[in-house]
Amino acid sequence: MNALQNDLLLKALRQEPVSRPPVWMMRQAGRYLPDYIKLRNKYDFFTRVQTPELACEITLQPVDQVGVDAAIIFSDILVIPQAMGLEVLMEEGKGPSLPQVVRGKAEVEALRTDGVEESLAYVMNALALSKKELNGRVPLIGFAGAPWTILCYMVEGKGSKTWDKAKQFLYTQPEVAHQLLQKITDITINYLKAQVVAGADTVQVFDSWAGALSPEDFSIFAQPYLLQIAKAIQPLAPVILFPKGSWYALDALQHSGASGIGIDWLLTPQLARSIVGNNITLQGNFDPAKLLAPPAQIKKWVKEMIDGFGTQAYIANLGHGITPNVPVDHAKAFVDAVKSYSA
Ligand code: CP3
Repeated sequence: MNALQNDLLLKALRQEPVSRPPVWMMRQAGRYLPDYIKLRNKYDFFTRVQTPELACEITLQPVDQVGVDAAIIFSDILVIPQAMGLEVLMEEGKGPSLPQVVRGKAEVEALRTDGVEESLAYVMNALALSKKELNGRVPLIGFAGAPWTILCYMVEGKGSKTWDKAKQFLYTQPEVAHQLLQKITDITINYLKAQVVAGADTVQVFDSWAGALSPEDFSIFAQPYLLQIAKAIQPLAPVILFPKGSWYALDALQHSGASGIGIDWLLTPQLARSIVGNNITLQGNFDPAKLLAPPAQIKKWVKEMIDGFGTQAYIANLGHGITPNVPVDHAKAFVDAVKSYSA
């Protein structure tokens, strides 16, 4: 029961030979699938996340309906601020908001770091149930937000184009910022360890707003914490780091010990490969907006992307999450193009 029928993803992460690259899509669970939208109309966001049967059903939908080579657990990166004691609201169409923002030492010290496994037990239950229901068809991916990206939401209180308040916090109270980043790192390590125990075959760390930082700021406020997480989790399961926008960090991160690095479409596959060689697995980097083009065009672009990365030590994916307006047929065209790739 435990042996995987399709372990392309894990092979690619171990840099073992594969017959073709594995494919999955960031944010594949939810957003664009009609069956997901039905559940979204019936249950509010955190009910879907906190009810293992619902989370499991959503996790499996893209495996059954789009044919991806991996499932990613349906949850959110903002369960960590919740577990640390902050309220998180998710309003349909408006995105997340955190009414009590973190702006100083007192608020950082008040954040909880113990009892993650207890307060996030529903995630581990959803993972265990999804693992069981997948029945070895494809690997199961766990995930968490990176410390810098979580700090962004805690300080800003909502999404932002510039993250200027989060950056102001780094620049005006660097010691407190590091204290907060370390607290988030500690809880995230425990959380990811528990996810692996519960059934995650690999974990991805989403540093979605890394690209808001300059290379120097990234090296001070993001990278050290990504490295701590990679070092702690990699002995238990392969780690994929996804520092969106931070192409400049590829060289440094290839020595992080992580198995894989996700990249976006701001650099070519050829350039990314020339920086890291085949020593680390690359994941990406299809512009999700390109899924709105006609399927024949999508297939052509997918072939060019794989030609650029090469078929080995590579995971075909988008360069960021799939958007809600992508027709299911187009998502399928993307997946099918990878599956039928030949040089
Ligand atoms: O990847 C998956 O399919 C698993 C599910 C998943 C969700 N959020 C579900 C969700 C994952 C991996 C995330 C990660 C996440 N959440 C990130 C990192 C990835 C990225 O896209 O950069 C971030 C920054 C968040 C924070 C967040 N959660 C935002 C900004 C929003 C609102 C807008 C949106 O759709 O992304 C959410 C809500 C959310 N999380 C939804 C889903 C399916 C949409 C709300 C809904 O369907 O009710």
